[in-house]
Amino acid sequence: MAHPKYAFFEGKIIPIKEARIDIRTNALQYGTGVFEGIRSYWNKNTKTSYTFRMAEHFQRLILNSKILMIEIKYSASELCDLTMELLRKEKYTEDAYIRPFSYNSGLNIGPKLIGNDQDLFIYSIPLGMYLDTNKAISVCTSSWDRISDNSIPPRAKISGSYVNAALQKTEAIMNGYDEALVLSTDGRHVSEGSAMNIFMVRNDTLITPPVTNDILEGITRDTVIELASRMDDIKVVERPIDRTELYIADELFFCGTGAQISPIGSVDKRTVGNGEMGPITRRIQELYFKIVINEVEEYSHWCKKV
Ligand SMILES: Cc1ncc(COP(=O)(O)O)c(C=O)c1O
Repeated sequence: MAHPKYAFFEGKIIPIKEARIDIRTNALQYGTGVFEGIRSYWNKNTKTSYTFRMAEHFQRLILNSKILMIEIKYSASELCDLTMELLRKEKYTEDAYIRPFSYNSGLNIGPKLIGNDQDLFIYSIPLGMYLDTNKAISVCTSSWDRISDNSIPPRAKISGSYVNAALQKTEAIMNGYDEALVLSTDGRHVSEGSAMNIFMVRNDTLITPPVTNDILEGITRDTVIELASRMDDIKVVERPIDRTELYIADELFFCGTGAQISPIGSVDKRTVGNGEMGPITRRIQELYFKIVINEVEEYSHWCKKV
């Protein structure tokens, strides 16, 4: 049977075919869910799967759920254990993606965050590349603005807010680009990609928008900052980025659990650098791909053996 075979649903691990929700579910009607995306990586050399920074993802889920007043009755470490159990049953021999989802499971009519039942499910699915990380992709500035913290907080990874991402990504693809770059409504600074954070290199400085620029506080973003901070020849700065700075950047890349480290070759038809993956992006990408399969001892605390 093809993956996925199981889901954690309504308090237990059951065959995924039996994990069904009622059509009246509040989260389906009004987008009142908060989710995570976690990767597990298959190391071909050691024939072992490792999850990457799973505990941090669950900590973020618990915190972000508070924004939607969803109380998760499991601790991050219990959620890690449940996920491990699920992955061990799936027995993946390829890269996979884990999708935890906390949500308003009540059946009442009306968009509100109180007085509803709440629940959480987890499933996993095989996932190779989300973006082709071997090539420098083409991106366009989206005509759709990023939703702001005071409308639907992007920080919270709210299921309903991904309509915004879907509009951006679809527009980009329909116009012949690989991905969308999104500006914030407030001051129209660069926010992020449709579902990934962005880094710019200018004069050996790695620059990324601060967490107050309507972005998801990405765990891969945090990983990149940590890795680059330990490289003596690279400075890391968090500051707002103007749209036209991207046109004159030395290098640009997206990062995210799905996107991994994805070099950008052009923005709005302006070539970035020489249009190929830049040297700093390459260094970070090479290191990242070794770390996630637990081949760098210094960072092995981020990897959990399945
Ligand atoms: C809007 C958005 N920004 C950034 C990211 C990257 O976050 P992370 O590195 O935690 O996966 C994601 C998710 O992958 C996302 O959906």
